Amino acid sequence: MQTCACISLSGGQGKTTVALFTSLLLAQQGKRVLAVDSDPQANLSFYLGHEVQANQPTLLEVLNGQVTTEDGIYPTRYDNLFLIPADRGLFKVSDYLSSSGTGAFILKLRLKAIASLFDYVLIDVQPSRSQICLTGVGAAEYVLIPVEANTKGFNSLIDTLNFLKEQASLMAFTGKVLGVIPFRDRWTGRTQSLESRENVEAMREFADDIPILPSIRESEQFKKALRQGQLLSDLGYPDLEYPFEQIIKRLAHE
Ligand SMILES: Nc1ncnc2c1ncn2[C@@H]1O[C@H](COP(=O)(O)OP(=O)(O)OP(=O)(O)O)[C@@H](O)[C@H]1O
Ligand SMILES: [Mg+2]
Repeated sequence: MQTCACISLSGGQGKTTVALFTSLLLAQQGKRVLAVDSDPQANLSFYLGHEVQANQPTLLEVLNGQVTTEDGIYPTRYDNLFLIPADRGLFKVSDYLSSSGTGAFILKLRLKAIASLFDYVLIDVQPSRSQICLTGVGAAEYVLIPVEANTKGFNSLIDTLNFLKEQASLMAFTGKVLGVIPFRDRWTGRTQSLESRENVEAMREFADDIPILPSIRESEQFKKALRQGQLLSDLGYPDLEYPFEQIIKRLAHE
């Protein structure tokens, strides 16, 4: 089982988009995939069509040990794709994680229990330096950092890499950064916008030996695919799936 987290410390950087399409594509290729919604905004659960019922466990109960990990896993409408969902109540786990003293390791521990059931775990991490974020990062063997191809995205990259460095120095992050994914990269025909080009170039310089992976183009088709819960290839845009195919290739080579 390979565990990969999508993290970027600003909002709207493409974390959920990357976690979702990578999960969908892996599952379509026949891999057994567990998507973990580690964000109280619960967008990943929403896009996967999961509605949390009042008496059903979510990531909150899995993390605080009220249920076994398996009891928090639900099938989705997609073959091979399973979900540990979240809802707004996930924030309540912070006290448990901080008082446990080893909060950064709790998700890792919970996932260990189901390691034989899945090929891949994809974690959508909350965009803040919270206990929930820490436990998501602590569980990750691999990290993907999506960042918008603009100044906000560049700043998110700086914050996120600094944060990971800090956590690594505390041994709370022991994974590898698989790469940075420029998000909403703007092109008109064959011409990349100046803003996108300058920012991706700045990211390349800043990220140093961390690879900049193929970017996710700005496109309305993503919103449509997200809304309809379909792959971009199902909508007739297989080219837009390229960045996710490359992520999967890199994971397979690890
Ligand atoms: N290729 C794309 N082009 C334009 N917009 C996109 C594209 N892909 C996704 N979006 C939209 O961009 C927004 C932000 O994407 P996403 O939700 O993946 O970011 P996020 O980092 O998970 O945000 P948050 O921090 O709020 O969790 C969403 O509203 C989504 O519909
Ligand atoms: Mg999100």
